[in-house]
Amino acid sequence: MTSTVDQPILESESSILDKLIDHLKNNTTEMADSELRVPTAHFIDPDRLVQEREVFKRKPLVVAHHSEISEPGSFITRTVLGTPLLIVRQRDGGVRASLNVCRHRGGTVESEPCGKKRVFTCNYHGWTYDRDGSLRHIPYSHHFEPLDRLDHGLIPVSAEEVHGLIWITLEPEDDKTSVKDYLGPQVDAQFSKFNFKESALVYDFSFDLDVNWKLVMDGSIDSLHPKFLHPYGVGKLVSTNVAVFNDYGLHGELFTPRMRLEEQIDADENLDPIRAEVADGKLHRYCGSACFVFPNTNYIRTPDHVEFWTVWPHDTDPSKSTAKIRFLADPNTLDDKMRARISKSWEILKEAATEEDWPMEESIQENAPSVADSSYLYARNEISCQHLHIGLRQEIGD
Ligand code: FES
Ligand SMILES: [Fe+2]
Repeated sequence: MTSTVDQPILESESSILDKLIDHLKNNTTEMADSELRVPTAHFIDPDRLVQEREVFKRKPLVVAHHSEISEPGSFITRTVLGTPLLIVRQRDGGVRASLNVCRHRGGTVESEPCGKKRVFTCNYHGWTYDRDGSLRHIPYSHHFEPLDRLDHGLIPVSAEEVHGLIWITLEPEDDKTSVKDYLGPQVDAQFSKFNFKESALVYDFSFDLDVNWKLVMDGSIDSLHPKFLHPYGVGKLVSTNVAVFNDYGLHGELFTPRMRLEEQIDADENLDPIRAEVADGKLHRYCGSACFVFPNTNYIRTPDHVEFWTVWPHDTDPSKSTAKIRFLADPNTLDDKMRARISKSWEILKEAATEEDWPMEESIQENAPSVADSSYLYARNEISCQHLHIGLRQEIGD
């Protein structure tokens, strides 16, 4: 008689720690099977941008935090990849999204960025829609030929709230799957480790950058650069060129040691106390992690809070993008001390991003036309950065 043992969904945090310790002791890091070259043209070619945006439209994308539409009737309007959306909290707690485009003659129905309403009325001729997008009222309707009101509601867009985040899929694939199916069991399990559902939105920043969106994503999960580009800040806090990368299909997760772990190893300290802490759920005291959700999201965990990145391509210009960075915290543990620590984390991140990472990425973007026929090299040790480009290549069908 044979017995089967359920495989754990995620690698244990103790196992991740052990791998990082081995890498630190042996001066190694996780390696891809081969190096990768990505044509420079992919960062400057408008046609490539069109192809990438088509991929974005097929995937669930995080467009808001649950707290942005907290009560029935709360709404936000967002233009996502050129598509104007009206996203509304329903009476039953669900979320509906529609094109924010009037079914009469195409006016913008709701022009405020956010608010709370019972109904939504287009200012042009007064057509009025319910919170769920259905058509409620047509002024002077007796002058219109009879029309099927059920056929003239706002055009719905696929929306789901999962892990306290609002996900939109603009053009679901034929075999449309739920957000949870899209995330897969490992990413879903990693998201379940933080109280996203109740999380408080501590900061919500948006930065328009003169950089291709992929360069911004690369920079946010690049474990090879900290000590070079951030010698006095981040480079003193995290190790360089030491990482574990777990492949979750299109998604993945990067683990990088904090310098306090590297220092303990360099000093030949007994690591058992650290192992015990990690076994007790404190991995992030010794290691940072970035869980990447294809194509544009990074969920970065710290001991206190989550840094949540989404990076958006420009509508037409491959040399521009928008980075949205949200800081989330568990309201059950968010006290003044934690707020102070989160504030300090933001200052460190802001300095690294605005004074070092993004200026470097802007220089890459500026330089790109001069090497347009060339390619960028992602070496075997740059496995986390390779992952996005390999996924994109698959999805575009290169
Ligand atoms: S375009 Fe909206 S009511 Fe006419
Ligand atoms: Fe950086």
